[in-house]
Amino acid sequence: MLELKEGQRHPITMTLDGQEVRGLTEPRMLLSDFLRQELGRPEVHVGCEHGVCGVCTVLIDGKPARSCLTFAVQAAGRRVDTIRSLADKDGKLNDLQSAFRRHHALQCGYCTPGILLSAEAFLRENARPSEQEVREMLSGHICRCTGYVGMVDAILETAQQRASAGTP
Ligand code: FES
Ligand code: FES
Repeated sequence: MLELKEGQRHPITMTLDGQEVRGLTEPRMLLSDFLRQELGRPEVHVGCEHGVCGVCTVLIDGKPARSCLTFAVQAAGRRVDTIRSLADKDGKLNDLQSAFRRHHALQCGYCTPGILLSAEAFLRENARPSEQEVREMLSGHICRCTGYVGMVDAILETAQQRASAGTP
């Protein structure tokens, strides 16, 4: 097993948005900093940097995780998905992203990548959520612009459309 010592940088690899990537990290480097600074992924946003606001959310092996509370070494060898994983390779938005757009579920957009990733993971586990369940999921994210109503509508609509189409 790799032993990391304070102040040393070691190579780690992970599958990021479907591609294997490699970078150097110190033992105490946060995953959010690793993704932004080492791998050049500014779309992983940071806000409070202590686990409250949710803007730094990524998926680790399909589960939402605060990247500001995760060390980069904890993601070594794992699958990490950012907002880039939702659109297709030509940049076409997925159905949830399109619903956010239709329902005006974002304004400045700073909170949006984290919320979309949490919502996507939530819908995979909850195919027919109630409005209350959607609101509880969103309570893990702070948005200072929208008032959340458009997000709730967009998530419920996406769930309904996926259920009608028989897609998870
Ligand atoms: S920056 Fe990670 S929860 Fe706020
Ligand atoms: S859209 Fe601005 S913080 Fe949510």
